[in-house]
Amino acid sequence: MGGGAATGAMSGRPAGAPGRAGRIVAAAPLAIGLLAFGCATPALAGVAVDAGGKVFRLDGGHVTYALGVDDKGYLQPLYWGPEIDAQAPLQARVSTELSGFDPAGMQTAQEFPGQGEGLVTDPGIKVTFADGNRDLVLKYRAHRIEGTVLAIELADIGRPLTVTLRYAIDESTGVVTRSATVRNDGRQPVRVEALASATLTLPGASDYRLHFLSGRHAAEWSQHTVPLSPALTVLESRRGSVGHGNQPWLAISRQGQTTEEAGPVWFGALGWSGSFRLSAQADNIGRVRVAAGFNSYDFAWSLKPGEALDTPPFYAGYSPGGFGGASRAFHRFQMARIIPGGERAPLRPVLYNSWEATAFDVTAEGQIKLAERAARLGVERFVVDDGWFGERHDDKAGLGDWTVNPRKFPQGLKPLIDRVHALGMSFGLWFEPEMVNRDSALYRAHPDWVLNFPGRPRTEGRNQLVLNLARTDVRDHLLGVLDKLLRENDIQFIKWDYNRNWTEPGWPEAGADQQRVYVDYVSNLYHILAELRRRHPGVEIETCSGGGGRIDTGIMALTDQAWTSDNTDPFDRLGIQDGFTMAYAPAVMMAWVTDAPNWANGRTTSLDFRFLSAMQGGLGIGADLTKWNDAEAATAGRWIAAYKGIRATVQRGDLYRLVRPVSGADQTATVYVAPDRAQAVLFAMQRGSQWKDQWAPLRLAGLDPARTYAVRVLGGGALPEGIPARASGAWWMNQGLNLRLRGDYVGMGLVFEAVKQL
Ligand code: DGJ
Repeated sequence: MGGGAATGAMSGRPAGAPGRAGRIVAAAPLAIGLLAFGCATPALAGVAVDAGGKVFRLDGGHVTYALGVDDKGYLQPLYWGPEIDAQAPLQARVSTELSGFDPAGMQTAQEFPGQGEGLVTDPGIKVTFADGNRDLVLKYRAHRIEGTVLAIELADIGRPLTVTLRYAIDESTGVVTRSATVRNDGRQPVRVEALASATLTLPGASDYRLHFLSGRHAAEWSQHTVPLSPALTVLESRRGSVGHGNQPWLAISRQGQTTEEAGPVWFGALGWSGSFRLSAQADNIGRVRVAAGFNSYDFAWSLKPGEALDTPPFYAGYSPGGFGGASRAFHRFQMARIIPGGERAPLRPVLYNSWEATAFDVTAEGQIKLAERAARLGVERFVVDDGWFGERHDDKAGLGDWTVNPRKFPQGLKPLIDRVHALGMSFGLWFEPEMVNRDSALYRAHPDWVLNFPGRPRTEGRNQLVLNLARTDVRDHLLGVLDKLLRENDIQFIKWDYNRNWTEPGWPEAGADQQRVYVDYVSNLYHILAELRRRHPGVEIETCSGGGGRIDTGIMALTDQAWTSDNTDPFDRLGIQDGFTMAYAPAVMMAWVTDAPNWANGRTTSLDFRFLSAMQGGLGIGADLTKWNDAEAATAGRWIAAYKGIRATVQRGDLYRLVRPVSGADQTATVYVAPDRAQAVLFAMQRGSQWKDQWAPLRLAGLDPARTYAVRVLGGGALPEGIPARASGAWWMNQGLNLRLRGDYVGMGLVFEAVKQL
């Protein structure tokens, strides 16, 4: 911890008066390593420290998070939940041993425990010192408030190893951003074997439920709930990347108290795009212990003397407003604090993507034909997917050779790009930079550039191998290639794909240190993305990994949108989008209208249904437009025009899940409400109408009860019978509306506009 004016014990002075924010004189900004991980530093509401320098609290967005030092020097979590008064008697109390089997240190709910003193819950950090000692007991040493960040330094009781915990709270949502830095001030290397960004504790109760998201390729974002019990639940990726499996996000509710729109929800997300581990467990007295950070499985980092290792951020939030309140708060936080450009980030343009239409068979002529048709529909961005480079005629060759294929594009990309621009659209191009086919010039020149263990098989996935981005030569090569392509071509958008997981995670050149590959790889990926953004500020990036295999709050800070899933079936998508938006903002969630029957499940649906499903995020078209007849093109044109009138509300508004697409559900309804509550959009989707009885009244949410809202059918058409043309927000929210949809896979959008009072 160097530089900057200090407060509290680091300077030997009291940090300031107890109570709310702003009573502490902030010191110089902290130069933290978080930026290296792409973390946007959140704005601070309030950080306060009591006069004795023993109790720390963060207040913001009607949430209080507090921690304190007990008489033995342990840093303890004290409170996390609804805002409490400034005089609240927060105090850390020394724990005694529960029995001879449960010593005092273990019983103490430490804010960030080292693995030592018999700890049996997941530690914040586990190390092995050079002499084989594996006992690490962290106690409070000092604290500082630097800019918007509270930094608390813990030190081992005997050895020169420190952990600095950092905290900031978002004043609007109460989301707390936490991270940790471990530093070796000794003379020997220390082997770090587990390192969390945060560990968190909730008081004992028997009714906690843990919620998480999981899935597989083309079936991402399914939702799961389990009781929080003494059985340790681990959500993790061991794949090198986030993957399609468990998401680095969780929520905790209380059974019987928490519903979609009411009751307590604690939630958290790790801003890391590599192997991660989130764990949750009720301890021996029922307290919930959560740990979140790098996955310790197969990971190790040799911390040299004087070296420090930063974790990625963990975002921790609380809402008293149920799952809906929690997700809306986190969406707002992401839009304001994580997504590049924050609240000023441009809305997602309507895009066209060639993948489902042409697969690898891309040619200048064919793409121009598609672009001309797309432009006529009102599409704003044209994206050429896989197949434009090297000898890429199928998925067996070409990855790694990022030069335009001269037979497919005899005059390079320029004629296509010029035509796309002349049609009034921006131009985007697909890449999969981290991968290589054996059948490629790059692999023939650099077979040592892939992750591998010498003498062992190099397992292929989709006929490709993973380049070892942890190597600086590989990192610099990729940055150079991409930078050159962006300099030489007028490109506005990159779709950044990643189509396999790691198998043999070897880095032979790093010898005994090679298990740091899990961190170095992702840090270098972030470096390339950040550097491309810096050098080409006009270029937007989409994160994609065979659909939604690499979406998390880490990559979100360096990309502008996310490809949610390769499953483009509009009914499956309702469940996928419901799961996605539990954790992440619709502002980045892309959804395409593709051809029917759908490639994923063979289901045939109407174009209207496909549009109504895809319009609930960032709208895209992925169909073969050369096969659309005039009537289909006219329908699409109408929907795209209608979407442009509501997209700000969909992408930037508050999402209310009125009827959730739980398994087997016949009906689904969502409402998006603009931040100024001047517009709301209701999407009602019906899978089938087996029974004569139809929908229960749909009661809207989030409107201003006192304003009058006029309603119209999205995309045009007469209002269904019985729905008044205008009524107050109070009416729409309390009386609601009765909708009768007839048929299978049908839907309707209704737009509510606040009527201007004269
Ligand atoms: C997987 C992506 O999710 C698809 O959209 C497409 O880009 C293919 N890769 C191309 O290989």
